[in-house]
Amino acid sequence: MTKIDFDTMMKTGAGTLAGRYLRRFWQPVLLADDLKPGFAMPLKIMGDEFTLYRGEGGTPHAVAHRCAHRGAQLSVGFVEDDCIRCLYHGWKYDGAGNCVEQPAEHEHSFADKVKIKAYPVQEYLGMIFVYMGEGAVPELPRLPEMEADGVLDAYMYVRECNYFQNIENGVDEAHLPFTHRSSAFDVLNHDVPKVRGEITDYGVVQYGLRSNEAVRLTHFLMPNILTFVHPASDPVVTEWALYMSWRVPIDDAIHKSFVVELFTVAPEERAGFVARRRAGKAKTAELIPTAEIARQILAGKLRLRDVAHRPDIVNLQDHVAQTAQGVFADRDAECLGSSDHAVKLLRQLWMQDLSDLADGREPKRWVYPDRLRRPRGLNEDASAAEAAAIAQMAV
Ligand code: FES
Ligand SMILES: [Fe+2]
Repeated sequence: MTKIDFDTMMKTGAGTLAGRYLRRFWQPVLLADDLKPGFAMPLKIMGDEFTLYRGEGGTPHAVAHRCAHRGAQLSVGFVEDDCIRCLYHGWKYDGAGNCVEQPAEHEHSFADKVKIKAYPVQEYLGMIFVYMGEGAVPELPRLPEMEADGVLDAYMYVRECNYFQNIENGVDEAHLPFTHRSSAFDVLNHDVPKVRGEITDYGVVQYGLRSNEAVRLTHFLMPNILTFVHPASDPVVTEWALYMSWRVPIDDAIHKSFVVELFTVAPEERAGFVARRRAGKAKTAELIPTAEIARQILAGKLRLRDVAHRPDIVNLQDHVAQTAQGVFADRDAECLGSSDHAVKLLRQLWMQDLSDLADGREPKRWVYPDRLRRPRGLNEDASAAEAAAIAQMAV
């Protein structure tokens, strides 16, 4: 059985083991609202560049970054119906990557012999997903909880460190009372939780057990999806918000997180809620960007407490904590403790899957349940007996 090292886990470029592994799953690559019909844009995911465009009828397509003729970047071309035409000499490609016109070749056209790379694309939950793997294309997993009635909001942020640091952070509840001091998480920060993890059919569940017997559950769906519920700051939200996030490398030194949240809001309150969120996002967009503030904090020019008023404070706190580990955290130099239990389990699952792939075995087939157990609010359905059982779990 091939032993997987941390370096292997962090590298996702074409042909790498972790890159081959992540490409076996549909990945979100762009927010649906960020691509209007008739527009195209260049994207980089896991080091691979490609063109994402939306046909005039609204269907999104992903094809190669460059034209097969003399290599012009296709995204600067013209979207025509469901095709994209190169800006340079007008070669035209359909969404499957077939060249369908070579206007300057007149009677010598060899378009039927030219094909560029194309990827399957689907739109779901306000995001555009692309399948970048080889062979048979799996179905895009549905997440029925996210399809429930409420207000759905998708957004994206970029973090300047290796994606795996953010993956690990998702099942690292012990960071809350420190990293997220003076934030919306303060409702949970009255003490430092005991952290336990458990392997499931979908990945890992993490229990964050607090001294008042409250238990917070965080679920991690293999290979790169985090989901939990959290207190929402707007008073019209009647339950804890449902959060789901995909950690997707741009390249090994930087990654995107695509987040979708479902808010339970009475129908008559929805328009106001959406307007407030929109206004909040617009206001945040006018501020010095999160990454720039994080750089100033890392350089000792600012402290997190100086920017605690910022609406992006939770993101900023995580950004600082994760980039403070370095762009590539040195896991060979760590001193892990019992609070890292869920992180250890998650690494173990990843290493097993990578090892299977390296040795030609089929990695485990993860099954996402239609519903995950989610106490909404503290201690809603976690009994004292359950809390005691979790506290006893072997680490
Ligand atoms: S480079 Fe695209 S048509 Fe010539
Ligand atoms: Fe965090």
